[in-house]
Amino acid sequence: MTRTLITSALPYINGIKHLGNLVGSQLPSDVYARYCRAMGHEVMYICATDEHGTPAELAAAKAGQDVADFCAEMHQTQADLAAGFRLSFDHFGRSSSPQNHELTQYFAGKLADNGLLEEVSEKQVYSNADGRYLPDRYIEGECPNCGSADARGDQCENCTKQLSPTDLINPRSAISGSTDLEVRETKHLYLRQSKLSETLDKWISSKTDWPILTTSIAKKWLHDGDGLQDRGITRDLDWGVSVKRGTEDWPGMEGKVFYVWFDAPIAYIAATAEWAAAQGKPAADWERWWRTDKGADDVNYVQFMGKDNVPFHTLSFPATIMGADDNWKLVDFIKSFNYLNYDGGQFSTSKGRGVFMNQALDILPSDYWRWWLLTNVPESSDSEFTWESFQNGVNKDLADVLGNFVSRITKFCRSKFGEEVPSGGEYGEAEAEVITQLTERLKSYEDNMAKMEVRKSASDLRAIWAIGNEYLQAAAPWTLFKTDPDAAAAIVRFALNLIPIYAALSEPFIPDAAKTMATAMNTPSKWPTDIAGALETLPVGHAFTVPENMFAKITDDARDEMQAKFAGA
Ligand code: MF3
Ligand code: ZN
Repeated sequence: MTRTLITSALPYINGIKHLGNLVGSQLPSDVYARYCRAMGHEVMYICATDEHGTPAELAAAKAGQDVADFCAEMHQTQADLAAGFRLSFDHFGRSSSPQNHELTQYFAGKLADNGLLEEVSEKQVYSNADGRYLPDRYIEGECPNCGSADARGDQCENCTKQLSPTDLINPRSAISGSTDLEVRETKHLYLRQSKLSETLDKWISSKTDWPILTTSIAKKWLHDGDGLQDRGITRDLDWGVSVKRGTEDWPGMEGKVFYVWFDAPIAYIAATAEWAAAQGKPAADWERWWRTDKGADDVNYVQFMGKDNVPFHTLSFPATIMGADDNWKLVDFIKSFNYLNYDGGQFSTSKGRGVFMNQALDILPSDYWRWWLLTNVPESSDSEFTWESFQNGVNKDLADVLGNFVSRITKFCRSKFGEEVPSGGEYGEAEAEVITQLTERLKSYEDNMAKMEVRKSASDLRAIWAIGNEYLQAAAPWTLFKTDPDAAAAIVRFALNLIPIYAALSEPFIPDAAKTMATAMNTPSKWPTDIAGALETLPVGHAFTVPENMFAKITDDARDEMQAKFAGA
């Protein structure tokens, strides 16, 4: 049996995610996971909240909460929203789990044993008023280059110049505004990525089937400027995984934690361990997904993420895995995405611009969002959400094509033959033609799904719906019924039998509608292996029900209202 491990980049814990975040990783990975399951693969689909680091501490402070409590609550919120969007994770874990603490410390220990960690003394800004070290971006001041008053210690957003905190004029803490800052000497661990640079380069070069977006970003980091740089993997913070060498204390590292980007990808593994624990399964059950000496060598591992995450997944995390040199599974394929923009600008969490996951579900069912987002996923370039495009996608594809087809044929059958599949008549040329067309499209759909070509898959699915709709339109059983009820019955029987096929094929994209169709047709969902055979699913006399209106159209008024509401503060 094919075994497929799928991970979606871990959403950061600091707040509810917007639709741009959702479409950049979780949604497409869900489509792929559902497809693989339908193909009979054994699937492990993992996600988690990414909970450490300064932004989590600050978000908690802003909410007036203890950081651990804040994270626990926000994790639950994100888990509920994931369920609302029908994201079918096998486990939605937490990077703050005990499993991740242990694994992160284990990896650091292995890397140290293998000579890949280096202790480096650094100067860092300490804020007396805040009682903590400040990361570069939490120091603000005047830009030495353009004079902007709000330059950050890592960069001036106004003139884009890269800065270091000591460049700033009149530096202050971005947390408290205090200017009582001092530079202190502190020791940190660096991951010697430069030592692995050649190995990583060879590995990336061997991935000729990866998206260009993925490999080009990796190559840029490997070859631009001075090449791949060593990276600090520890921080002077309270919240995080304390620095240990395996299970041993690390002299000189007291009070420090690992950098969030070091422990976050390790949480893919840890969340699988959480899954096993939650199911009361032994460690061997998660290790067979992650340890090549324990069964993971025949696993196909696919990661989904936005382009900003690519450097960490093509270089840093593989450096951790390779550097540990202890039979851990490396990723086999990285599917990356561009950005989704919002109505003439960018989604902005800080400005509250755009639609956030909770708001989306308050307005309309998840299938509407899933369909639009997936058909417009920023796959080969950035894409843009507009309310008009959203309205169009929902009304035309879902309501006019799929919804119309299902509703029309089930209602017509009910009114003329009752709620069971009618007998009489025979299939002819038109039906044979539909079978040919569907067979071709199904092949294309499966090829594109297997390649994770999300947009192409969506257009195949849309075409598959359209084939039925056009068939019904042309066959017009409502007209034929008056002169030849038997011939009309054959058309109805044929069309009704398309619904279970649509249910199965639509499930990765619009799982709720798929379930409605399968339930109405009173038959379990089964991926069709051959179309002609699948069209025999509902025999004469098989009882069904007419599903409630599957999709309601979005009116112009409703569209305008939503657009105004979400324009941002
Ligand atoms: N939290 C990061 C982001 O939102 C993604 C982390 S992916 C992980 O960009 F694998 F490192 F966890
Ligand atoms: Zn500037």
